Amino acid sequence: MNPGWPGGPVLGIESSCDETSAAVVADGRILGHVILSQDAHERFGGVVPEIAARAHLRQIDSVVAETLRDAGLEPRELAGVGVTAGPGLVGALLVGLNWAKGFAWALGKPLVGVQHMEAHMFANSLESPGARPPFVALLVSGGHTLLLHASVWGSYTLLGQTRDDAVGEAFDKVARRLGLGYPGGPEIERVAREGVPGRFKLPRPMVSSSHTPADSAWFDFSFSGLKTATALLAAELESKGGTELEQAVPDLAAEFQQAVVDTLVAKVLRAVEWANCDRVLLGGGVARNGVLRERLRDALGDTGTLYSPSPRLATDNAAMVACLAEHRLRAGEVAGLGLNADPSLPIPGLTPLGSRVDHGVMPPGAPCIPS
Ligand code: KG4
Ligand code: ZN
Repeated sequence: MNPGWPGGPVLGIESSCDETSAAVVADGRILGHVILSQDAHERFGGVVPEIAARAHLRQIDSVVAETLRDAGLEPRELAGVGVTAGPGLVGALLVGLNWAKGFAWALGKPLVGVQHMEAHMFANSLESPGARPPFVALLVSGGHTLLLHASVWGSYTLLGQTRDDAVGEAFDKVARRLGLGYPGGPEIERVAREGVPGRFKLPRPMVSSSHTPADSAWFDFSFSGLKTATALLAAELESKGGTELEQAVPDLAAEFQQAVVDTLVAKVLRAVEWANCDRVLLGGGVARNGVLRERLRDALGDTGTLYSPSPRLATDNAAMVACLAEHRLRAGEVAGLGLNADPSLPIPGLTPLGSRVDHGVMPPGAPCIPS
């Protein structure tokens, strides 16, 4: 607890990718929240960094003004400002960061920079007070795939991560190959409802039965091969001419989604066993996927708990940023005006598995006692 910080409403700003968002949070409660998604990227099938940065610049004033109106607050009533400092697109990040710096400086309020993926974990706290460490977290977004164990807030053991494409990225690219819209995740989930997994066979990457916990592949992910395998099947169907591919899209999408979910669930179960902790927390845009949530819940059974954010708080939003910023300000953290955007900012307090085990901080199989 920081005796120097009086507490009160915190403004959060998020601009790391293609959502311009602001929120006011006080004591973990959302008082105002606006998310403006940029649809200008749709026709390119992915986010165009320059377009994103310019759109943030155009939108940020009105997004913050509307958020404050929503919260019924004047700027001077805020107790602090939090902003995503990374990871993300550097031009996009810089817009939010510089805006937040100027705003905080003009008002004489403390400013704090937060890490986007850590904020995705905090999204759960806004809806479920029980969503706090210790837990196993699966963070799945368009840019990251991280499996970690949190012993307390700010102390995380990195168990696994993707070696190539992030899960969301694979969803987006496969959707594009199948002629579906952007973002691809929701599109694949939608058409997969009309399809049957198993008609086409796709690999479950990095879940080979020959792996042991000693292998580095035990917790890691890889989605690039699965993406290519799907693209090859699509090309084969396309070469037959006519509507072969079109007709096969639901089944292909269903099998792709199933392969991703099988892989993610298998890795989470390994982490649960390693950490002896069946409290699992999901974060990031792919957490919107209903099949993933359902399969994880089933796999954890009656004894385990799955925390997953509601759809609005799963994809990029500023409420999660404000929530983490409030936590940091309470702990006494304040950034100077030298705070900079870092496109590959790591999660603070994230330690690789090996070093953590060697130092005996978090041995495998340590009991999971909720604090
Ligand atoms: O966290 P997020 O909003 O942005 C990043 O930080 O990257 O995640 C966006 C990603 C996109 O790749 C999108 O396709 C994916 O989340 N996504 C989904 C679903 N909804 C969004 N993936 C699978 N199923 C969904 N329903
Ligand atoms: Zn995100």
